[in-house]
Amino acid sequence: MTHKIAVLPGDGIGPEIMEQAVRVLKALDLDLSIDEAPVGGAAYDLKGHPLPPETLALAQASSAVLFGAVGDWKYDKLPREHRPEQAILGLRRQMGLFANLRPAILYPELASASSLKPEIVSGLDILIIRELTGDIYFGQPRGVRTAVDGQFAGEREGYDTMRYAESEIRRIAKVGFESAQKRNRKLCSVDKANVLETSQFWRDIVIDVAKEYPDVELSHMYVDNAAMQLVKAPRQFDVIVTGNIFGDILSDEAAMLTGSIGMLPSASLNSSGQGLYEPSHGSAPDIAGRNIANPLATILSAAMLLRYSLGLPAQADRIESAVRKVLAAGYRTADIFEENTEKVGTAQMGDAVLKALAG
Ligand code: IPM
Ligand code: MG
Repeated sequence: MTHKIAVLPGDGIGPEIMEQAVRVLKALDLDLSIDEAPVGGAAYDLKGHPLPPETLALAQASSAVLFGAVGDWKYDKLPREHRPEQAILGLRRQMGLFANLRPAILYPELASASSLKPEIVSGLDILIIRELTGDIYFGQPRGVRTAVDGQFAGEREGYDTMRYAESEIRRIAKVGFESAQKRNRKLCSVDKANVLETSQFWRDIVIDVAKEYPDVELSHMYVDNAAMQLVKAPRQFDVIVTGNIFGDILSDEAAMLTGSIGMLPSASLNSSGQGLYEPSHGSAPDIAGRNIANPLATILSAAMLLRYSLGLPAQADRIESAVRKVLAAGYRTADIFEENTEKVGTAQMGDAVLKALAG
């Protein structure tokens, strides 16, 4: 069976890190058909839209999407609907990619890259599950209007709507519990139930879903405390499940605990197993085209793609162990370089992973 994969390199360092990930996928000798399409600012320049219809159609017709990164300062002045970020938001919404899995793992070789003390982060292995198609990101109504009543009547005001439907909470909670079952069976649901109605409802539904998973230990935490606990004692967490906006913020924080955001992949899944896989880092336009970006997060995203959308866990393991070998052998891109290691460029890191795969 041929697996159809859409490759969307995007902007900034996207194309160069993607090139290495595609080399790795091709080296596995699988039956893959790989098609590339423009996305983000690159697509805007080429076709006048960050998510052109052909790109969306290709993504929707594929088993999985491998996504690089989008965004560049030069597009910041465009109207919102033409900004590169709309591409990723559009793909999430149009493909129904509601479950975002963001692992934060500390590789032992990179322990000193973290800004936290080694004794706090060593062995860190957290999975953040972020709901990705609801919440204040997509809630209607939203906009800018003239306030009709209250203290600020007559003034212009900006507004967004935080909302979660029961079925949306149930399905992401299930992903949380099922992921926890495959790990250390601890799930922490993060909300702001002391203030927000949406959050209190979220908490009530999560508690109800928990009845189906008596083997998982469920806890609840307010998001401000969770932000604190992540830097104070991050190893208390196994799986965290949370809404879109809290997950956006906490997943960046968790990624930074590892000191190497250039190492972290992510998966965004829909209910039919289709997925979009992307590095957790951004497009880093300041270092684009210089062969210094770290391709490992994208290579590891390709591994997640094989595991979650193509059902090829053994092939995913192969990539992941090749990456571990490369780190153990001392190869480092600039972002994770330290004394007594060997600094390599983007393409050389790709070469090293290919060699480790073969050996
Ligand atoms: C992320 C990013 C996006 C988000 C932006 C680029 C729209 O920060 O994937 O975390 O806010 O979801
Ligand atoms: Mg973010």
